Amino acid sequence: MLRIVQLSDTHVPDVPGKRELRLRALAHAVDLANSLSPALVIHTGDAADTGQESEYALVRAEMDKLNAPYVITPGNRDSRPRMRQAFSDLPWVDEGEGPLDYVVDAGPLSVIGFDSKGHKTNKGWADEARREDLRAMLERTKDRPVLLMMHHPPYEIPEIPDPRQYVDWSHAEGICDVVNDYPNVQAVACGHVHRHITGFTVGHAPSFVLPCNAPDLRKGPAKELGDAAAVMCIDFDDEGRLADIRLEVVPVSAQATS
Ligand SMILES: [Fe+2]
Repeated sequence: MLRIVQLSDTHVPDVPGKRELRLRALAHAVDLANSLSPALVIHTGDAADTGQESEYALVRAEMDKLNAPYVITPGNRDSRPRMRQAFSDLPWVDEGEGPLDYVVDAGPLSVIGFDSKGHKTNKGWADEARREDLRAMLERTKDRPVLLMMHHPPYEIPEIPDPRQYVDWSHAEGICDVVNDYPNVQAVACGHVHRHITGFTVGHAPSFVLPCNAPDLRKGPAKELGDAAAVMCIDFDDEGRLADIRLEVVPVSAQATS
């Protein structure tokens, strides 16, 4: 069995009050993740709240308490240059200036980080050139099972006020078309909408959204989680085939304070 744990939308700011609240929430999520003994932890973006250098230092200090390696994909609130700077020594960070894409291996599984951050927009971006970048990564990994991660979910979510979270809907549909060409994609992990979303697909692949790890920014039914720690637990069999996806929730009072 191979386990991946997902965090998302920690939105760590460097202003008193919210800084302590969201750092405490991230610390609890890290404790919960460690208790699940994953092979890899993925963070699906909006790690920092405004993309400042000091915010990434705070995020990094908490993320480094994970017992497993971790990767982060940029969200709309993240700064690519400052994220690259803060995590520059980690293997998934390149020295480029463009989108931060990568492939990392976890046992039999390849994990693809696809950077869906747009230009001067909070919405997702995956124009034809970017979809070719995605296709190139999928082509490289076509002989292995793949977990794909991106910040913006590329499907319409009717329950949110603006159900289409890509700047041009052809970008989202294009992602689904690309994924459809790769039956080895096991699942697509997303963030951004701050709700617990299941039951959708990206092309043929099941997809889900983790409720945000900033407890004060949870929306819809995810608000009922209060300040509980919540992470997505994604299990694969020994061949890397998807076996189970579930939300793990632990009330903060039930966790050992650290
Ligand atoms: Fe967010």
